[in-house]
Amino acid sequence: MSWWGMPTYLPTSLLLILILLSTGEHEMEFCTGDESELLTKKTFCDKDSTHEEFIPVADFHSGCLPESYREKQDVFDLIQAAIHITVRVVVEETSLDRPEGYTCHKLGRRGGLKRFGSGWVWSSFRSFSTKDKETCPCKECFTNKAVARSQWGQFIVRTAKHVIFDDFEAQHASCELNYDSEDCRGKCDTLLGVEVLMSDIDGDFSEVTFVTHDSDLSRKLEARVSHYRKLFNKLGSKNNAAHDAETQPVVIISHPHGCSKQISIGVVSAERDDYPRNWTYTARTCPGSSGGPVLRLGNWSLLSCVPPHSGSRTLEMNYSSEPWLF
Ligand SMILES: *[C@@H]1O[C@H](CO)[C@@H](O)[C@H](O)[C@H]1NC(C)=O
Ligand SMILES: *[C@@H]1O[C@H](CO)[C@@H](O)[C@H](O)[C@H]1NC(C)=O
Ligand SMILES: *[C@@H]1O[C@H](CO)[C@@H](O)[C@H](O)[C@H]1NC(C)=O
Repeated sequence: MSWWGMPTYLPTSLLLILILLSTGEHEMEFCTGDESELLTKKTFCDKDSTHEEFIPVADFHSGCLPESYREKQDVFDLIQAAIHITVRVVVEETSLDRPEGYTCHKLGRRGGLKRFGSGWVWSSFRSFSTKDKETCPCKECFTNKAVARSQWGQFIVRTAKHVIFDDFEAQHASCELNYDSEDCRGKCDTLLGVEVLMSDIDGDFSEVTFVTHDSDLSRKLEARVSHYRKLFNKLGSKNNAAHDAETQPVVIISHPHGCSKQISIGVVSAERDDYPRNWTYTARTCPGSSGGPVLRLGNWSLLSCVPPHSGSRTLEMNYSSEPWLF
């Protein structure tokens, strides 16, 4: 074993070099073997050796927030609701259509290599109870009409474009819910990827549809998404920004290193005026954080745009994708 916990035989080392060369500033995590590799990668992370300022989901409480938010129950509830819809995104194949020079362009299709990012379930697209003549669009149902389901739940997940690039990658992607502690690994409810609805390479965001054949999961998730949106709209309509326009705190929910869900808190340090109008912030992020929701607490009219996390320039800056306006 080498220091980063991977066997040192040539193909894996070559693959690692390819990964290093091809990811640029984007923050995905990779694994070539058993997923227990991910914990080793976290331990030997050269960006953040302690991960002390990442807060595990179970330890998150209102006292973790900046002082002026500690008494605000609606803010805390919104963050909790966002935690419950944040997913770990696992992509098992990489598209050959990634352009030259773009993240993972050189990787090609390589069995056995998994990429990890984050995302959040943004809306419920089709309810499990819907009945019509259509059949489920997932790869399994689509390729075998004989077993195709007539009922399924369909959701839209938001993530970064470099995590799920196109339909091919969507069809090889899954989303895991409630991966809140390491004990959950391998036991999480999972959604299956279908297609990219909308995406933008410069803005670095993707909206991807995912399905489940599990009626309980589908109903549970529908309820969570609608709870989140209700809280979101309530706070958005309050528009009571002024109290700390200067500090502009952000809360990022993600799966650093493809490991369990963590919260990181910081402030916005810069904001671009031209497209992509992305934000840089002091909140911690690591490989695997790409695609996780970035909630900006300082200005509720800005809260209506939640960008996915995008990348980092070593330790100097961590930055988001283009914030969505909806
Ligand atoms: C909040 O954001 C809106 C939209 O960008 C902006 O017009 C407004 O000035 C901001 N308010 C504060 C207090 O920063
Ligand atoms: C970005 O995240 C890393 C890793 O958590 C952290 O060490 C670093 O301080 C962050 N960058 C900034 C500018 O805050
Ligand atoms: C966001 O901002 C950073 C730093 O200004 C920049 O390097 C990056 O390319 C920008 N775009 C996206 C989509 O993140």
